[in-house]
Amino acid sequence: MMTDSQFARTFAKMVAFLVVLTVVLIALGVVIGGSIDDKLNAQSEEYTQRVIASRTEPVGTLNVGEIDEPAATEQPVQVATAEGDLGKSVYDKACFICHATGVTGAPKPGDVNNWQPRIEKGLEVLYTNSIQGFQGSTGIMPPKGGNLLLSDEEVKAAVDYMVELVQ
Ligand code: HEC
Repeated sequence: MMTDSQFARTFAKMVAFLVVLTVVLIALGVVIGGSIDDKLNAQSEEYTQRVIASRTEPVGTLNVGEIDEPAATEQPVQVATAEGDLGKSVYDKACFICHATGVTGAPKPGDVNNWQPRIEKGLEVLYTNSIQGFQGSTGIMPPKGGNLLLSDEEVKAAVDYMVELVQ
């Protein structure tokens, strides 16, 4: 039989043991939990970076055709010349509405088979036909594409732009 004082000592030891155990478990929890937190933070940081990168990447690259400059191979996004820029912006504004879809036979930019026989007529003929209008075998090219506010230079630049795309 345990005496009361023996019981009290045993009980006190058990309580002390449990207190120590509790402290150890809390410490362990902090250590393990902390390192998991670090990992999660690191992962979500990396994830955030990837999301930002994917949302801020350029929408597309500008295709201005073949450019005979060595630098062109290294830089896909290349703005050729001021002239090329003008041609593209005129095209986008006044020509693409027919030429992008090829409505009534309007030669699509990049359609070599359709452009080749036209280019063989010479650039001057193409300029004149674009500026003054032209009745071809499949349809009508209205003077300046119907946009008479364009200057002759602007129309020529747009012709150059389309011709360059097939050369
Ligand atoms: C309303 C539609 C329309 C618009 C807008 C238009 N085109 Fe055309 N274009 C045509 C059609 C149709 C043809 C082909 C006619 C054919 O060969 O039968 C053509 C042909 C051409 C040709 C070839 C001419 C030739 O001699 O073979 C050139 C160059 C041209 N367009 C330039 C332009 C330019 C530059 C613009 C913008 C300023 C423009 N087009 C806007 C309909 C259009």
